[in-house]
Amino acid sequence: MNTREEVGEFSKLFNGFMTLMRRFIFKVLCVGPIPNHISFIMDGNRRFAKKHNLQDLDAGHRAGFVSVTHVLQYCQEIGVPYVTLYAFGHDNFRREPEEVKCVMDLMLEKIELTIDQAISGNLNNLKVIFIGDLNMLNERLKAAAQRLMEVTEENRGLMVVVCVAYSTSHEIVHAIRESCVRKCGDRDSPQVLEVSDIEECMYTSIVPDPALVIRTGGRDRLSNFMTWQTSRSLLHTTAALWPELGLWHLVWAILKFQRMQNYLQKKQKLD
Ligand code: IPE
Ligand code: MG
Repeated sequence: MNTREEVGEFSKLFNGFMTLMRRFIFKVLCVGPIPNHISFIMDGNRRFAKKHNLQDLDAGHRAGFVSVTHVLQYCQEIGVPYVTLYAFGHDNFRREPEEVKCVMDLMLEKIELTIDQAISGNLNNLKVIFIGDLNMLNERLKAAAQRLMEVTEENRGLMVVVCVAYSTSHEIVHAIRESCVRKCGDRDSPQVLEVSDIEECMYTSIVPDPALVIRTGGRDRLSNFMTWQTSRSLLHTTAALWPELGLWHLVWAILKFQRMQNYLQKKQKLD
């Protein structure tokens, strides 16, 4: 066996060992309550690129996509039913056009790859849904997102909701407009809109409210992300940049959720 083969054998063994360790950790974690919906505010891609002296405009975002793959795999293994990802905010469209284009191109590349995986049956039953003002996306990206939703429509595994061109302010305006059309239509008599009418028309009505929100990048704010839906959610922030988010950050956040169960359940009853 030459040195290269030896290194290959060793890394195979090491990966196998790490997978076993991870499964064991998740088994222990699952003894306690698991959040039924985790939202991720993915922040810090550009700082990651800067920190590692990566010159390409898309380097940090590329690293961020690798993190998405790992996090989704962990959530699947833990048995979390719903995940939302704040992928690109409505306000992010105000960034330099080159950067916006770069993120959109990268997103297209990843979506097309995921479509291929879904068609060849390698997506582990994952269901993907895009929400937000999808009309802000270019035609090719919009069509690809639509196609990915179609090819994963019947899947019953982890549901991943990708929020693009999303902000809660726009979601609320959209929901009010939609509920007016639904409820008032062309009726002559005035109608009263209830909170439930608006909630039914929110993009996020397809998922329960998040039980746990994890924000990377060291900022303690929601940045116009699901502010309507998170009044009872536990917010966990970490200084780790999104591409640095690893297994232990996720385990730590879930342990915090488990430690705070009594408090969270009391809040659910009182509010
Ligand atoms: C989040 O990382 C990813 C997107 C909004 C697309 P940023 O791009 O905000 O990176 P930082 O926070 O500037 O480091
Ligand atoms: Mg940022």
